[in-house]
Amino acid sequence: MTDTNQTRVTVTLNDGQEIPQLGLGVWELSPEDAYSSTRAAISAGARHIDTAAAYGNEKEVGRAIADAIADGEATRDDLYITTKLWNADQAPGKAAEAIDTSLTNLGLDHVDLWLIHWPLPSYGRYVDAWRSLIAAREAGKTTSIGVSNFYPEVLDEIIDATGVVPAVNQIELHPGLSQPEQRADDAKRGIVTEAWSPLGRGLLDHPVITAIAKEHGVNPAQVIVRWHLQQGIVVFPRSRQPERVRQNLDVNGFELTEEEIAQITALDDDADASGRVGADPREAAFGIPEE
Ligand SMILES: NC(=O)c1ccc[n+]([C@@H]2O[C@H](COP(=O)([O-])OP(=O)(O)OC[C@H]3O[C@@H](n4cnc5c(N)ncnc54)[C@H](OP(=O)(O)O)[C@@H]3O)[C@@H](O)[C@H]2O)c1
Repeated sequence: MTDTNQTRVTVTLNDGQEIPQLGLGVWELSPEDAYSSTRAAISAGARHIDTAAAYGNEKEVGRAIADAIADGEATRDDLYITTKLWNADQAPGKAAEAIDTSLTNLGLDHVDLWLIHWPLPSYGRYVDAWRSLIAAREAGKTTSIGVSNFYPEVLDEIIDATGVVPAVNQIELHPGLSQPEQRADDAKRGIVTEAWSPLGRGLLDHPVITAIAKEHGVNPAQVIVRWHLQQGIVVFPRSRQPERVRQNLDVNGFELTEEEIAQITALDDDADASGRVGADPREAAFGIPEE
């Protein structure tokens, strides 16, 4: 059993910064829902919010942060805000402009972490995009920089070209796609792995998950969140429902056994539960501008 408040647990990045391991993601939330979920999460103790320019809700996330600070629920220094450089903005001039637009939308003078959203190998601008994030960090517009949906070959390229190792790699990761190879590659390089779509799809009513949930007297989403946390993965489930936002953060007071973690990880081989829910980063080519 653990009494640790999981919203206060941090992981140390390779640049010395601390990232809260558990937070809230806001993909696909309407602006109104992004506001209410961010407020619910901060009131419930969350300190880490994951947004992106492409989500179309940076303004409302920023407003929720400002209102939570005004109401005394947190300070800016307590909060850890991530945003992402969208695919259409990887070229040098566009990146600089997009970075300033995101900060304006968020109403912040800096974020804590900026990620390249997708590598887009067929477009081939990820090294340029990485140089733009390095410049943004040097200009104090973000404290840390990282990538999303990167795989070993593109990680090699950006690191070889710049000597700068990303602090995190945010990848699709859940019990149906547990990504042992990419996690090991990230770890070998000192990169922290973050999970996107951490709850997967169709996993919450899988009998393996529901049986473990029953055993611990918790709900299936809480079991999956703990599966991530106990493996050192940074995780930020999303919900438009404030009650679920609170449940997903309330994963204190129980611990999965090694055996249970192994049972859940084995869902990778379960034909009904396994596989990607999103695009394969080696093939993804959306959002590329016509130049
Ligand atoms: N870098 C990338 O390319 C990328 C891609 C995808 C996502 N992300 C990030 O990762 C975050 C999380 O991933 P995600 O948004 O795809 O999905 P997710 O957190 O894995 O799952 C969200 C879905 O689960 C439902 N849900 C949430 N909590 C629940 C609970 N306690 N019980 C039952 N159902 C629950 C939600 O429905 P309700 O809203 O109705 O509760 C929603 O349909 C995103 O928000 C985003 O920040 C990044």
